[in-house]
Amino acid sequence: MIHVLFVCLGNICRSPMAEALFRDLVKKENLIDKITVDSAATSSWHIGAPPHKGTLTILKQYNVSSAGLVGRQLTKQDFDQFDYIIGMDISNVRDIAKITGQPNHPKIIRLLDLTDDKKDVPDPYYTGDFQETYELVLNGCRALFEKIRKEHNLA
Ligand code: 4NP
Repeated sequence: MIHVLFVCLGNICRSPMAEALFRDLVKKENLIDKITVDSAATSSWHIGAPPHKGTLTILKQYNVSSAGLVGRQLTKQDFDQFDYIIGMDISNVRDIAKITGQPNHPKIIRLLDLTDDKKDVPDPYYTGDFQETYELVLNGCRALFEKIRKEHNLA
């Protein structure tokens, strides 16, 4: 099994959107028995909470299931449990390194560093632009999927 974890600050906007979009890709590619997907926050602010209304609305708009999305906080143990730990911005990556005690580990990656558009995913909690989030996160998820496909020789 390959285990993928998306991480953002609150785990209610960007990382649950990434979890839902990536799971959708995995389902469409018939790899649900090979790849698991989860998401977590670097903060403790929204533990047990459903995604933000903006994330739920955009997922619904694009016919992507939001089933099972619940806020949780990243733990040190997640480092051993997951093969890919994907932050949405540079401060997420720094916080992941701090929480896991793993500075500069190659499995900790900023999502859009996998694309040609190497930058942070802006936080829609502050920008209000969930459409932008959707487009950037989908682009990043597609790139991550191709990386995993290559690294694990998946058909
Ligand atoms: P996220 O966005 O990291 O994409 O989930 C945020 C959600 C909540 C807060 C900040 C960012 N907050 O301050 O509660």
